Amino acid sequence: MKKAKTVDQIVNDRYAIYQGDCCDLIKGLPEASVDFGIHSPPFEGLYKFSNYDRDISNNEGAEFWEHYGFLISELLRVTKAGRLHSVHCMQLPTSKNRDGFIGMRDFRGEIVRAYQAAGWIFHSEVCIWKDPVVAQQRTKSLRLLHKQIVKDSSLSGMGLADYIVTFRKPGANLVPIEGMFDRFIGEGLDISQDGYAEYCRAGRLDDPEFKPWPMDMWRSVLVWQRYASPVWTDIRQTRTLQYRGARDHQDEQHISPLQLDVIERCVELWSAPGETVLTPFLGIGSEVYSAVDMGRKGIGFELKPSYFRQAIRNLTELDKPPENRMFEDDAETMEAEDA
Ligand SMILES: C[S@@+](CC[C@H](N)C(=O)[O-])C[C@H]1O[C@@H](n2cnc3c(N)ncnc32)[C@H](O)[C@@H]1O
Repeated sequence: MKKAKTVDQIVNDRYAIYQGDCCDLIKGLPEASVDFGIHSPPFEGLYKFSNYDRDISNNEGAEFWEHYGFLISELLRVTKAGRLHSVHCMQLPTSKNRDGFIGMRDFRGEIVRAYQAAGWIFHSEVCIWKDPVVAQQRTKSLRLLHKQIVKDSSLSGMGLADYIVTFRKPGANLVPIEGMFDRFIGEGLDISQDGYAEYCRAGRLDDPEFKPWPMDMWRSVLVWQRYASPVWTDIRQTRTLQYRGARDHQDEQHISPLQLDVIERCVELWSAPGETVLTPFLGIGSEVYSAVDMGRKGIGFELKPSYFRQAIRNLTELDKPPENRMFEDDAETMEAEDA
């Protein structure tokens, strides 16, 4: 990577993470050097991460799109032809104070149009189910309250899902991403030896001539049927990296890290082992962590020092065997046990 303005950095043979402004740092990456990318942008107007003027969450309206638009064009430049970049987002609630009305904003659509305007192809999207009861307890949103249904349901509405929207750089992909799935990431799918034996038994009951697929094929098809679903209802919502330690004294609330299941599905689908995965908004390190854990190389940029320090701590967990690593639900359980 060419020299760029960075305050702190960790570079080793598995990952390179830099503390600084992604819009500066990305200029140091060579053209067509990234195989896959994934990130959650700051959701415009929803939550301010810091008071730095380079923090994209501090821009609103046209300024936000100008700032983010610059990054979107740079992402296109550094990505290889025919390869992909995934963006995690949600539709945004509007508020009476900020927007003048209670309703929703099509943030996902705005993202799609910004990527298309920069020259990306809109490739795919998946909706990720979110529990409305948990959302109501967290956000206290009127639109989800049962009390509102009883009083006047004209203001009631469904919970807001998450989405992964994925874009492809025009041109032919020169290195195929080949191979079958040999594991399942998520909950509730049996791809064990016993599951395979049951598939063979049930098939033969139906038709004595039944020719089962070999086990590796059966497993891969089942996994793909789940991943190909337009709605993912089988993501482990609390499987995230630890984030509580990242809060600094001015923060109003915790960062929401992206679930590792979501990242890992995308990394597995759209990159091969040994390839390079980029996230311009590293946060507490989730995307780089999963990429490295899955045998890819990770690159990440993060502006906020307390998040960057937490990303370093989270990435150090990769040096431990998987069964000894700490995740956010372990930290919560320990906190509850200490109380
Ligand atoms: C939605 S969070 C990403 C969380 C991440 N997906 C995770 O799981 O940890 C967005 C991040 O962008 C960072 N950010 C905002 N503006 C930035 C900039 N110009 N350069 C680098 N990071 C920036 C914020 O500090 C925040 O950590």
